[in-house]
Amino acid sequence: MKLILKMLSVFALAIMLTNCGEKKETDAYGNPVEEKKEATTEAADPLLAKGQELFEGKGTCATCHKADVKVVGPAIKDIAKIYKEKGASIASFINDEGEPLVDPSQYEIMKANFVITKAMSAEDRKALEMYMMSIE
Ligand code: HEC
Repeated sequence: MKLILKMLSVFALAIMLTNCGEKKETDAYGNPVEEKKEATTEAADPLLAKGQELFEGKGTCATCHKADVKVVGPAIKDIAKIYKEKGASIASFINDEGEPLVDPSQYEIMKANFVITKAMSAEDRKALEMYMMSIE
């Protein structure tokens, strides 16, 4: 009887340890899981890939916005962070339906791009939003 209890507790402990392992960002071999996740999301979500394409291409956004450093415009990750915190929509902002939340003093420079983004389809604006919000 005692032996069975002992075996059960060892088993329970093993399950707990496995669960903890899952929460961490590494797999059983110690490789980071995060990178893999990003790759699958990108492949699985055509809108996200489209957003990146527009951001770097037709939208010309990449000229002023880099992932994690401020150039002419704020870093994408800083914009995404603020939009997440405030539950705001980038798609609406670039359709001239919102207030600048990140750097209102430079708003005029950004506003000039609304000519491009307002001429886009709503889906393209959503794709741009998805791409920017995916950067952290
Ligand atoms: C000529 C440079 C320039 C280009 C090109 C540019 N931006 Fe910006 N952007 C800025 C500047 C400067 C700011 C900071 C002012 C502001 O926060 O409104 C900004 C801010 C933003 C913000 C945050 C707005 C807020 O709430 O304050 C978003 C979102 C954004 N840009 C998206 C885009 C997208 C999408 C594109 C491409 C379609 C783009 N930007 C192209 C310069 C640029």
